Amino acid sequence: MRIDKMLANLGYGSRKDVKKLLKDGAVKVNDKLVKDAKEHVNPEQDTVTLNGDVIEYKEFIYLMMNKPPGVISATEDNYDQTVVDLLEMEDAVFAPFPVGRLDKDTEGLLLITNDGQLSHRLLSPKKHVPKTYFAVIDQEVTEEDVKAFKNGVVLDDGYETKPGELTILKSGLHSDIELTITEGKFHQVKRMFEAVGKKVIYLKRLSMGPLKLDESLELGEYRELTDDELQSLLEYEVK
Ligand code: URA
Repeated sequence: MRIDKMLANLGYGSRKDVKKLLKDGAVKVNDKLVKDAKEHVNPEQDTVTLNGDVIEYKEFIYLMMNKPPGVISATEDNYDQTVVDLLEMEDAVFAPFPVGRLDKDTEGLLLITNDGQLSHRLLSPKKHVPKTYFAVIDQEVTEEDVKAFKNGVVLDDGYETKPGELTILKSGLHSDIELTITEGKFHQVKRMFEAVGKKVIYLKRLSMGPLKLDESLELGEYRELTDDELQSLLEYEVK
């Protein structure tokens, strides 16, 4: 790969900016000053430094965001802010996209990556990746609902859902619940509750497969996955 492409891919500016860095003598490859933008490097093997700092090359980026409400799970939108708009430039240069969608008003765990294969496998209906949500419901949630969800409920378009595991955390005028589902139909959690005559008034995703929301992330904050999180995700999807 050309050195100017590698540095530009990593977010060190445009090809033109990077050319200037090279010209200014800021870049070394294996301790040798490199000024030619056309110089080829092997990012896996060569040690590239910028002003003395070693540059880590990566092809893929894996981010966990605590999605805030009011933001769209997309890469671009004509009206609303998107989750990608919330990323720092140095992360956005990898052109990542959200893995699946959370509604505009839904909060919580969102994986953002540029690894298309991983995304595809996590979203594949055949994989049945479980997703767990916390929700507040506008009325009492009962054991009847637990049973109904276990058997699958019929949505407004006639689709019968796969079993959902509903746990009542607090039942009352407003109920707190957790629901695990293995599908990702449009507005699925909201529509499952509508199927039993109830309304979701707050929704937050807690987990997706082995990946759990880091509760220390404030709404709108994100971080890279840890090595353990990434490994469990990559291993999980081949199961
Ligand atoms: N189910 C919904 O209804 N909304 C979401 O954002 C996610 C799951």
